[in-house]
This record gives sequence, C-alpha cells and structure tokens, in this order.
Amino acid sequence: MKKILVVLGFCSIILACNSAEKSESTEEAVVETSTTANAGPSKGEQLISSSDCLTCHKVDTKIVGPSYVDVANKYEASEANIEMLAGKIINGGLGVWGEIPMAPHTALSTDDAKEMVKYILSLKTN
Ligand code: HEC
Repeated sequence: MKKILVVLGFCSIILACNSAEKSESTEEAVVETSTTANAGPSKGEQLISSSDCLTCHKVDTKIVGPSYVDVANKYEASEANIEMLAGKIINGGLGVWGEIPMAPHTALSTDDAKEMVKYILSLKTN
C-alpha cells in the first residue's frame, strides 16, 4: 500500500513539473506581475503614483482615460502587449478607447513604463 502511495506521489510531482514547464513561456509575464503585486506596492504602482497618471486614470473608474481594470481585462499580459502599451505611455495614444488622446510621457524610460504596464495588467478581474 505504501509503495503505491509513493509511486502516485512521484507521478504527481512529475506531472506538476511538466505542466509548469509547458506554461512557463506563455505565462512568465503573468507570474511576474502577480508575485510583485503580492509583495506590497510594486515598483510599477509606485511609479504610477509618483507620475501624473492618476489625474486621468483610476483603478476601477473611467475618468479621462479608461480605468486600469478595463485596460487589464482588454489585454493579455504578454511580453508583446507590455512592450506595446509601454510605448503608448511614452509616446501617447489615441483612438483605442475614444477620441481623447493620452499625453506622451517622453521623460519615462522604457523599463519604468513596462513596470507600470505590468502593475496595470495585474489588476485583471476576468
Ligand atoms: C491627460 C490624461 C492622461 C494621462 C496624464 C495619462 N493617461 Fe493613459 N490614457 C489616457 C486616455 C485618454 C487614454 C485612451 C487613449 C486611446 O483611446 O487610445 C489612455 C490610455 C492608456 C492606456 C491604454 C492604452 C491602449 O492603447 O489601450 C494605458 C496602459 C495608460 N493610458 C496608462 C497610463 C499611464 C501609466 C500614465 C502615467 C504615466 C497615463 N496613462 C497618463 C489619458 C491619460
């Protein structure tokens, strides 16, 4: 009986490792955002509070720009989307959510903009 349990235990460990490996490349960004979000205010959240973002964006209510929850629900947290949205924050955006443009933030580094996007996309509710 004990032997069977040990064998079953090994099987599930092997299965767990296999599935973790498979999803690693696609879910890397997601895992990253959730671990930083669990460790108190993430770098991205701090950057957002110290920039002008919150004059136009709230986490769950549309003001001038879309709420961050809406943005998170629209885009999957893939590396390509993170790059694309970081580019919009730096260069400005228009026409995705309406006719009001987002002002460019050319003083931001790409790395900081990406941290902001990772935080925003971690707010996903669906
Ligand atoms: C002057 C108001 C304003 C400020 C300041 C502002 N935004 Fe925006 N933001 C907008 C508007 C308006 C849109 C929608 C643009 C569109 O429809 O393409 C938007 C869109 C976005 C999007 C989604 C882009 C897309 O293509 O879906 C993200 C992400 C975003 N903002 C992040 C930020 C961050 C981070 C900051 C601070 C560095 C910031 N915004 C500052 C108004 C603003």
